Amino acid sequence: MPRYRIGWLPGDGVGVDVMDAARILLDALELDAEYPHGDIGWEFWCREGDAFPARTIDLLKNVDAALFGAITSKPMKAAEAELAPELRGTGLVYRSPIVRMRQLFDLYICLRPCKAYPGNPLNYKEGLDLVVFRENTEDLYSGVEFSPVPAELHATLAKLSKPFGAFAQLPLTDYAISCKINTRKGSERIVRAAFDFARKFRRKKVTIVHKANVVRATDGLFLDIAKDVAKAYPEIQFDEANIDAMTMWLLKNPFNYDVLVAPNLYGDVISDLCAQMVGGLGFGCSGNIGDKLAVFEPTHGSAPKYAGQYKVNPIATILTVKMMLDWLGETEKATRLEAAVAAVIAEGAVRTYDMGGKATTLDMAKAIAGRL
Ligand code: IPM
Ligand code: MN
Repeated sequence: MPRYRIGWLPGDGVGVDVMDAARILLDALELDAEYPHGDIGWEFWCREGDAFPARTIDLLKNVDAALFGAITSKPMKAAEAELAPELRGTGLVYRSPIVRMRQLFDLYICLRPCKAYPGNPLNYKEGLDLVVFRENTEDLYSGVEFSPVPAELHATLAKLSKPFGAFAQLPLTDYAISCKINTRKGSERIVRAAFDFARKFRRKKVTIVHKANVVRATDGLFLDIAKDVAKAYPEIQFDEANIDAMTMWLLKNPFNYDVLVAPNLYGDVISDLCAQMVGGLGFGCSGNIGDKLAVFEPTHGSAPKYAGQYKVNPIATILTVKMMLDWLGETEKATRLEAAVAAVIAEGAVRTYDMGGKATTLDMAKAIAGRL
């Protein structure tokens, strides 16, 4: 039997293209693994009313790790309209499969390294090396949402909250509520993960990103806990910043930052910004990591208009494979893979369209495999 069982979840759109590229590298590295396929994506929503079917959830219970490509999501009305006729009007609600997966398997760390590989024409600045730790299961992603608002909730808020007075006269269908829920446990473990990483890899600083000056209850809790956790890591510098200021400072003085840690939504925002500084969608890689399972994915979406054209840059996904190899303890393979990516970028002979070149997704993968 192969040493590893890696769930293979291409999803849809360009997810399929970039996963084909990933496989070229895994095969070239001769990882001792099998790759059982998992159904996930838009076509399963349309056909079965579930983009993340139960059989795929079961598969993920029996793998060492998984690789995931990308999935198309559409707004509520469009999603309903594309359901098979017999499923329409049955009350099915589309929820992002990746968000569900993160919560279902408690993949509480979203790790997003953003490194500027020398010679990448898309680097905002050479030498950047930022790492984002994004809380991955709670916050505004909790899924506790109401539209229209139930009368019972409306009445309770009117009773308990003074600021709610400003909304109390509204009809229940004229506003909506999305709950931002942040727990002590969730906040503590993500901040701890960021500091543990900083300690292990001798990074100099951890920055807590929040909006505690306005969002006092939830972000206040996150910040208080973060400050407490920081005390156990006296050798690591620690500071904090509001999300809005953070976006400006990151662009202005990116070298002042090192490891960033944030609640879910701010982490989502900041990780796109950091990815853009090191080349954009073609370079953003991420790991959704829990204590038992980790699912690795490129940060980019499914880009339906490019689906099947083998045009998009697979480097994000290939770096995602590198992260998975590290997580599995295959450090030597991970290091070789990253060096091969860096070599191809530095050389500049093979470039996908985003980098100003004409190479296809698979040309790029083969060029990297050739440098292993
Ligand atoms: C990401 C994506 C997802 C998110 C979407 C596709 C649900 O933007 O992984 O950053 O918001 O988390
Ligand atoms: Mn995002």
